[in-house]
Amino acid sequence: MAAILNTGEAMDRALGLLAAGDVVAIPTETVYGLAADATRGEAVALIYEKKGRPRFNPLIAHVSSLDMARGVADFSPLAEKLAAAFWPGPLTLVLPLAQKSPVHPLATAGLDTVAVRIPSGFARDLIARLGRPLAAPSANRSGRVSATSAAAAVEEFGDTIPLVVDGGPATVGVESTIVKVADDGLILLRPGGLAAADIEAVAGRKLRRETGGAIQAPGMLASHYAPASGVRLNAREVRPGESLLAFGPMRAAGAAAAARMLNLSGRGDLREAAANLFSYLRRLDAGEAATIAVEPIPDEGLGEAINDRLARAAAPRPRLEGGVPE
Ligand code: TXA
Ligand code: MG
Repeated sequence: MAAILNTGEAMDRALGLLAAGDVVAIPTETVYGLAADATRGEAVALIYEKKGRPRFNPLIAHVSSLDMARGVADFSPLAEKLAAAFWPGPLTLVLPLAQKSPVHPLATAGLDTVAVRIPSGFARDLIARLGRPLAAPSANRSGRVSATSAAAAVEEFGDTIPLVVDGGPATVGVESTIVKVADDGLILLRPGGLAAADIEAVAGRKLRRETGGAIQAPGMLASHYAPASGVRLNAREVRPGESLLAFGPMRAAGAAAAARMLNLSGRGDLREAAANLFSYLRRLDAGEAATIAVEPIPDEGLGEAINDRLARAAAPRPRLEGGVPE
């Protein structure tokens, strides 16, 4: 059963849990978040596991300062302007991932962009003390409404996480507004606690609206990393010229001849496999092989989200002009 501590008494306990790679439910001004160290793959995997999300949606990297934000993402002058006007606060900016960003690829779902925001209050203090960004989706189980109080977070996760920090009712009460800062303008990805008009007033331009997760091809969200190589699922043998994404202690037939092999988890641990998924896909994608064969992965626990991601990677899709989709 989760301990429930007020913000005044929770800091050390929360820091200890996060440093140990665990998750903690924390208050922010928008909604409560289920937080973990954004730089550690297995800690981020734990978030998805606790949420029971059948998919790896990219998560917001919460930071405590503009300096920390600049280490995570590349800021254009327009992004700097929005950050200066609205942070800390209910605005999330989607920006290009910084070259040396410490945010783990599982938290960005393998994308070249990253969502960042500075929350206010306890969350910001916690991040400053930890010295690292926190990944934190809204503290609700998959398919349920966001928690805006400690009691709601306890209802969602009380029996599965060690600590819920009680900061009273969330003052904004809805999730942050998400804006993608792209070369050609500002795109409103999710309306939220900061009015679009306020953003437009500071930016001096209109927001393009692309809410509702514009799906460009069946089974493929525009915001999902897609490997250029073909992906062949449930491979029980490796064909000539293929590379191999392995799982567990048992190898597919012909594995020794694979152009290249990476094992998501030699001991068959789905949390470790989730943490390795996006970086290994990218590494195999960068190799010579035209096809990545993937060994069967059990469809249980985090395996469901892993298999969902792999199925998307394997789905036939139209080639976009100019090469590989982001
Ligand atoms: O107010 C909030 O934003 C709360 C508090 C806890 O900060 N967090 C929250 O996180 O609502 P979550 O994970 O429930 O929603 C984050 C949204 C997801 O819909 C995700 O798809 C989107 O942000 N997102 C994250 N990274 C993205 C990226 N690189 N490109 C496009 N969308 C992204
Ligand atoms: Mg949510």
